[in-house]
Amino acid sequence: MSTLVEVKNLKKYFPITGGVLDRKIGDIKAVDNISFTIRKGETLGLVGESGSGKSTTGRLLLRLLEATDGSITFEEKEVTKLSTKEVKALREDMQLIFQDPFASLNPRHTVEKILEEPLIVHKKGTKEERKKMVRKMIEVVGLDSYHLKRYPHQFSGGQRQRIGIARALMTQPKLIIADEPVSALDVSIQSQVLNLLKDLQEEFKLTYLFIAHDLSVVRQISDRVGVMYLGTLVELTDAEKLYEKPLHPYTEALLSAVPIPDPEVKSQSEDVLGGEIPSPSNPPKGCVFHTRCKACMEICKKVRPEFKEMEPGHYVACHLYEEDMQH
Ligand SMILES: Nc1ncnc2c1ncn2[C@@H]1O[C@H](COP(=O)(O)OP(=O)(O)OP(=O)(O)O)[C@@H](O)[C@H]1O
Ligand SMILES: [Mg+2]
Repeated sequence: MSTLVEVKNLKKYFPITGGVLDRKIGDIKAVDNISFTIRKGETLGLVGESGSGKSTTGRLLLRLLEATDGSITFEEKEVTKLSTKEVKALREDMQLIFQDPFASLNPRHTVEKILEEPLIVHKKGTKEERKKMVRKMIEVVGLDSYHLKRYPHQFSGGQRQRIGIARALMTQPKLIIADEPVSALDVSIQSQVLNLLKDLQEEFKLTYLFIAHDLSVVRQISDRVGVMYLGTLVELTDAEKLYEKPLHPYTEALLSAVPIPDPEVKSQSEDVLGGEIPSPSNPPKGCVFHTRCKACMEICKKVRPEFKEMEPGHYVACHLYEEDMQH
């Protein structure tokens, strides 16, 4: 499988300012040196607790945010160096699906207008052709043409997400960044939308970066999964391998906290992991996970472990698996 996106040593620091002069007094290290690839046609899942840097990563790929350092290659183009005009062209190929489509759908526009807009922005087709494309797309996502005359508030949450997906597909993108696309939906509706995303992936040869904090949702759709903690990637491998044989103590802890189908029950990760996630403005020295790690060694407090390929295709950043530690 060829590579669609290559991310290398990517960083995004948000400045913290303070004092009377509003001077910079520190940084929030939202994304702190991550590297990964997204293969053409796959779904790469990205999981991690709240604040681990998942959305920031997605927004950096789309150039909705400027990177502090590092590179993002999308089909041989360096995303971090594109001109304004080139960014516009990039957005045709890379689209975003949001957690809350309601907030992103203009309440005063009909669905027809909402779906036509990306075509107008990217100067695609004549008025007649655009109308035809819109009619086709509404059916592709499982709605009907009579829905086109309605307004966003007239739909259920699941239907609204279908409209959000239809809008993202209008420009025939290659990569879809789906940021918690089903987190706001009921469990029964979640699987319908996940199935729709899977069908669309096949039909339109799409590549997905699928972001979610819910490991079981990510498992349902991903070919490979990356686990983020405090702005870093701690592990990345095939979905099956990750769930069956996780290497990183953080992944293990997250997985042991997983089976909570009841949405009323809060994530148990805090219990399993012990303590709260540290602040990204003052991350622990050495391995950022060491303060909560059951397998913490002296070296972990001092040296940040490298994100290395420990087995073919299985990347992990942990001193437990470094060769010199095993002998
Ligand atoms: N525009 C911003 N300015 C300052 N800090 C920010 C900004 N955007 C994100 N952050 C901070 O960066 C860190 C990572 O945030 P991000 O939204 O990427 O996390 P996330 O993994 O998507 O979390 P969640 O699961 O809650 O959506 C957080 O500490 C957040 O407060
Ligand atoms: Mg987020």
